[in-house]
Amino acid sequence: MSVLIEGGRIITAADDYVADVFIEDETITQIGVALDVAADRVIDASGKYVLPGCIDPHTHFDMPFGGTITADDFQSGQTSCAFGGTTCHIDFANQTRGKSFSSGIEDWHAKADGKAMIDYGFHIIVVDVDGGTLEDLATLPDQGVTSYKMLMAYKNVLLVDDQTLFRVMELARDTGALAMIHGENGEVIDLLVRRAVEQGNLDPSWHAKTRPAELEGEATNRAIQIAHVAGCPLYVVHVTCEESVDAIARARAKNWPVWGETCTQYLFVDDTYLDRPGFEGAKAVFSPPVRDKRNQPILWDAVRDDRLSAISTDHCSFRMSDQKTLGRDNFALIPNGAPGVEDRLLMIHHFGVNEGRISLNRMVELLSTNAAKLFGLYPRKGTIAPGSDADIVIFDPEKEHTISAKTHHSAADYNLYEGTTVTGAPEIVMLRGNVLVEDGELVASPGIGQFVKRARFGEELKPARAT
Ligand code: URP
Ligand code: ZN
Repeated sequence: MSVLIEGGRIITAADDYVADVFIEDETITQIGVALDVAADRVIDASGKYVLPGCIDPHTHFDMPFGGTITADDFQSGQTSCAFGGTTCHIDFANQTRGKSFSSGIEDWHAKADGKAMIDYGFHIIVVDVDGGTLEDLATLPDQGVTSYKMLMAYKNVLLVDDQTLFRVMELARDTGALAMIHGENGEVIDLLVRRAVEQGNLDPSWHAKTRPAELEGEATNRAIQIAHVAGCPLYVVHVTCEESVDAIARARAKNWPVWGETCTQYLFVDDTYLDRPGFEGAKAVFSPPVRDKRNQPILWDAVRDDRLSAISTDHCSFRMSDQKTLGRDNFALIPNGAPGVEDRLLMIHHFGVNEGRISLNRMVELLSTNAAKLFGLYPRKGTIAPGSDADIVIFDPEKEHTISAKTHHSAADYNLYEGTTVTGAPEIVMLRGNVLVEDGELVASPGIGQFVKRARFGEELKPARAT
């Protein structure tokens, strides 16, 4: 099967030009002006952007958490990704306490098998280095799982202590994996939460009041210093506030191998959302929490000047009807997480590019290329170039779209951006040259997505096919 995309405006992290793209057997084989080739399908992309498929390095599908299981499994979650222009994501596979890391990865393969609508990889979440062994963890990069995540939050659930952080970071250094951290001081948060509950402070606003920004900044800085001693590269997930941005910026100014991401929601939702009447605030209960609005311009500045290098979603969806309600009478029991994979490109294009906060090139870098480079997918993914997978979004910059849970494809029954109208939306979304979504319709079937064995940190992922 061959496809010719004619006359679109090709935007990569580095370039912006009008040309044709020729795709053969799932791979981009030629780019040029007025290509003289015969194709099975020709798509006129004049007036449209031709973007590399977005990559989301932070999702949780089919994950048991907070006393329930996320609303989205791989099929609904990845369908939602496809409609939002995301053609590859890296999901967090949980190690089960007392079990091996490899069996955690096997569990996640089983969840995705036969359901996948886009390509995907896995990070491993490390909870217990005694139940699983470091020897077992060391084998994961050979399976294409080249990042180890540790959470400094969620005491008695996922939190690891500093010795575990250090031991896993040393291993990451030795195995060529990228260490990742959720930076929040879970010990102090645990005390603050228990105290709030004892005092009868139970509504959703207490989720943010018991998780102050200083405790995110402290944990982020602690992890950075520990990673420096261990000598490993570090990626800080879901940065929400000035305190963490500053810690990352200090490390980057010293050329330490440290990167950070923020997520769409922290650029748009602030802590006043939690005060909405009638338990509405539960929609925005996730961790780290939404912050004081003054952090939003700080995060925009940081994504513009590369103190933060990626925007992910941390998509972790729970229904309001029967899941968030677990915490109706106690904020500490509200499952933490929110949906977002379908909205990221729409929101960042409209409020980032259209409103002049970032360039189109920087948008591609933040939503695709930098994740590909940091997580061992580049140059197979994350760009438009001969040899790369034909993961392509043909994006109509004039198309208006109103975001709503009534029309999104996640199994979540609410959307954080409900009613927001944006200008610019995907028209065709392709995975390895196969059309997934066209004119608002899903045209691919489950099973089209494939697991991608990622390269080790700093190494390139070779093209699937020579051109
Ligand atoms: O609230 C969130 N973010 N839930 C998912 C787990 C995590 O902390 O990333
Ligand atoms: Zn997460």
